[in-house]
Amino acid sequence: MKLYYAAASPFVRKVLVVVHETGQIDDIALVTTSLSPVAPSDAVRAANPLSKIPALERAEGPALYDSRVICAYLDAKVGGGLYVSEADRWDVMTLEATGDGLMDAAVALRYETFLRPSDKQWEDWADGQWAKVSAALHALEGRWMAHLAKPVTMGHISVACGLGYLDFRHAERTWRSKTPALAEWYAGFETRPSMVATAPH
Ligand code: BEZ
Repeated sequence: MKLYYAAASPFVRKVLVVVHETGQIDDIALVTTSLSPVAPSDAVRAANPLSKIPALERAEGPALYDSRVICAYLDAKVGGGLYVSEADRWDVMTLEATGDGLMDAAVALRYETFLRPSDKQWEDWADGQWAKVSAALHALEGRWMAHLAKPVTMGHISVACGLGYLDFRHAERTWRSKTPALAEWYAGFETRPSMVATAPH
């Protein structure tokens, strides 16, 4: 399999953490990609018409995207158990959606403040993105800590990659200040070999 990849992307990291956690690292070739919403990549677009990463080429069918589809595929391929039981699946997927939504807003904020020319930046819009991140952090701290204390699922991986991205691109916003339980959980999770091996750079 061939994974279109950028080391800074938290969505790519999600896929790579799953690859490590499910023992499939030797089955994946990484194709380093440079792209942004204003500079798409032809190679990525051939795999994903939306020209977004991650995208996964595989032998047995068309390329897969986005990260949720790829992660579910990789898990199913080897019976990784990252969605636990059918009964827990909806909780796991909602937690994954919370982590993914946090990433969406954090990446959008990064694009707004880093990519967009300064005379075109809109402070209210940037504040709105950070408000989404804050709301997701608040929900994780308030509603999801009991779930995060259980064995690793796809939800854990998504949340951890989102928090790792906040440290990587938005460290000055000190996300830990209002979420001590989440910070304590993440301090343990980020030492997993799959997280250490995929740290953004
Ligand atoms: C980043 O540099 O922050 C980034 C790169 C690719 C995808 C998302 C974010």
